[in-house]
Amino acid sequence: MTPNQNHGVRYTGLIDKYRDRLPLSADVHAVSLGEGATPLIKLQNVSRLLAVDVEIYVKFEGVNPTGSFKDRGMTVAVTKAVEQGSRAVICASTGNTSASAAAYAARGGLKALVLIPEGNIALGKLAQAMMHGAKVIQIQGNFDHGMALVKSLAENAPVTLVNSVNPYRLQGQKTIAFEIVEELGRAPDYHCLPVGNAGNITAHWIGYTECARNAGDETTAACGFCDGHCSLTRQRTIQHRPTLVGYQAAGAAPFIANQFVDHPETVATAIRIGRPQSWEFAWTASRESGGWFSSVTDEQILRTQKLLAEQEGVFCEPASAASIAGLIGDLEQGKIEEGSIIVCTVTGHGLKDPDTAIELSAKPVTVPAQQDAVRKIVMEHLDG
Ligand code: F0G
Repeated sequence: MTPNQNHGVRYTGLIDKYRDRLPLSADVHAVSLGEGATPLIKLQNVSRLLAVDVEIYVKFEGVNPTGSFKDRGMTVAVTKAVEQGSRAVICASTGNTSASAAAYAARGGLKALVLIPEGNIALGKLAQAMMHGAKVIQIQGNFDHGMALVKSLAENAPVTLVNSVNPYRLQGQKTIAFEIVEELGRAPDYHCLPVGNAGNITAHWIGYTECARNAGDETTAACGFCDGHCSLTRQRTIQHRPTLVGYQAAGAAPFIANQFVDHPETVATAIRIGRPQSWEFAWTASRESGGWFSSVTDEQILRTQKLLAEQEGVFCEPASAASIAGLIGDLEQGKIEEGSIIVCTVTGHGLKDPDTAIELSAKPVTVPAQQDAVRKIVMEHLDG
């Protein structure tokens, strides 16, 4: 945060807010677009429909500057790249990482190169990478092929790799847990999220673990965010970590198969990944938290995407709906007990993938620009 004479304190992104808990020097200039501080929205209508006694919150990461959670990691990775004198960043991506890398590179004065799977990236994401001036390289292969290519390229060329194998990415992404704990005054009982390359579930666990460590002893310690005098410290409820539940699309579910998948397929192109880079880390996070992985079908994903949009006003992309789709399944199966507080990460905005949204929705009606014709439709709709 930076003081602003006219309006008090201006939010200037997560590096300025959490600098002391990030591996960055105190005076490094943050390459920021004001990411983080996303809304934690309590579901109302969906919870009522499910008729279960739990509190469900969605952390809507779609309202980050480029429309996904990737910005949390990219601000730190690009800040570090600039500090280290790098001139260019490179990544493989199913779309969101490339959009974020392109935007933060633009902001930081770096070149960006992005490898994307030809024909399998949502239109909005492609537009973003192109618009921000990245060199867009479409490969005739999938994300896993792209990942192998950029890893070896980055070893031999003067470019900084900004996929989540870059540890600064995960450091930035861990801040989601800080925000949730600050806002709820405690960690949730369960945290549900979609899993693709598995960097984000790893980052969530790092974040919650740091919160728990900072909270320290139940009776005496500060909350971890202050010197011991805030309301969180007095409530003293934040010392535990949530159970992490990771959801994958059924056609791209290596964590459920417990082995890599050679030909991942799903409508949720963001998580169309067969060889997650953070494989071991994610297993550790899941095991330590007492959590599990489950899969959801494309049909469940799309149905839930529509449900969230229609019932709660939250428009997310298909991959993001996997967390709520999976949660609904686990609630139906009784895997999550009544009274639980649950947070789902909703990872990306629905505008990223307009093609899928339009396909899922009722088509517009066309009428003459006349009072009678419009009135007829209005009355039909109100009665419907
Ligand atoms: N949700 C969305 C919207 C994503 O874009 C991704 C990953 C995930 C979930 C999964 O997160 O990989 O950390 O397990 N997208 C990457 C990309 C792979 O290239 O944009 P993860």
